[in-house]
Amino acid sequence: MDDLLSIKDLSNEQIGKIFDLTADLKKTPLNKTLQGKTVAMIFEKPSTRTRVSFEVGVYQLGGHAVLLSDATVQLGRRESIADVARTLSRYVNGIVIRTFEHEKVLELAKYSSVPVINALSDHSHPCQALADVYTIMEKKGDIKGLNVVFVGDGNNVSRSLNVLAKKSGMNFYLCCPKGYELEDCEILHDPKEAAKMADVLYTDVWTSMGQEKESAKRKKAFKNYQLNKELLSHAKKDVLVMHCLPAHRGEEITDDVIDSGSSIVFDQAENRLHAQKAVMMILMGEKQ
Ligand code: CP
Ligand code: NVA
Repeated sequence: MDDLLSIKDLSNEQIGKIFDLTADLKKTPLNKTLQGKTVAMIFEKPSTRTRVSFEVGVYQLGGHAVLLSDATVQLGRRESIADVARTLSRYVNGIVIRTFEHEKVLELAKYSSVPVINALSDHSHPCQALADVYTIMEKKGDIKGLNVVFVGDGNNVSRSLNVLAKKSGMNFYLCCPKGYELEDCEILHDPKEAAKMADVLYTDVWTSMGQEKESAKRKKAFKNYQLNKELLSHAKKDVLVMHCLPAHRGEEITDDVIDSGSSIVFDQAENRLHAQKAVMMILMGEKQ
């Protein structure tokens, strides 16, 4: 494992190793794996959880994080992505990147001699999926055969979750209006039918970062796909409600659902920290 760009690149053995280390780090958060090491974090989009959990994670592993905003590095505009990759590789031990086009993540990884971690692109959000499946394992124990039903957009979050849920032995369904499907995915269009079969009901914003111009159109298209009390009444009693956050309360999810006893959204958010530290230790620690 040289980088974390997409879930599909991970073997089952690597996923198992990440989850084992995540559990260890949750119990024992501090160590010196990244002592004397530096991680560059390029963020071209807003972030709360990802930015803070990576920075705190690097600190807890004894390293140092340098935040590079879009205004600072101007990837591909001030100079080529390849030259940024070559330059940063002379200073730092790893690069975390949140950007728009996934091709930029791939280009950066191609020309970097240090590990690159995808911290969300328009295509995928692998760190989120790792924390999410780990959280489902924590709550449910044996996850084989569980139904993960994502009610919402075929987007970066659902794409990564689809791949990891299936690699982990679960079934994944995307319940969405026509036109918002994902590739390689079981599609449902009726939210009530979807809710009935779900062991996990997941949602995310209808309009992702970078799609703001489509917001009115998307609100209309997704209006029957809200996670609300009525929809939850069709689900199993022990259904888990998940959301990667940030939530647009009152749009894709209502307060009474996200704040209910079924909701595990802040456990997911916490597990971002532990899972990402595991990934950094594997990628940036001493090679075994
Ligand atoms: N879930 C997630 O990635 O949150 P941020 O956009 O706040 O980092
Ligand atoms: N799909 C959302 C996820 C945010 C963490 C977005 O890309 O904006």
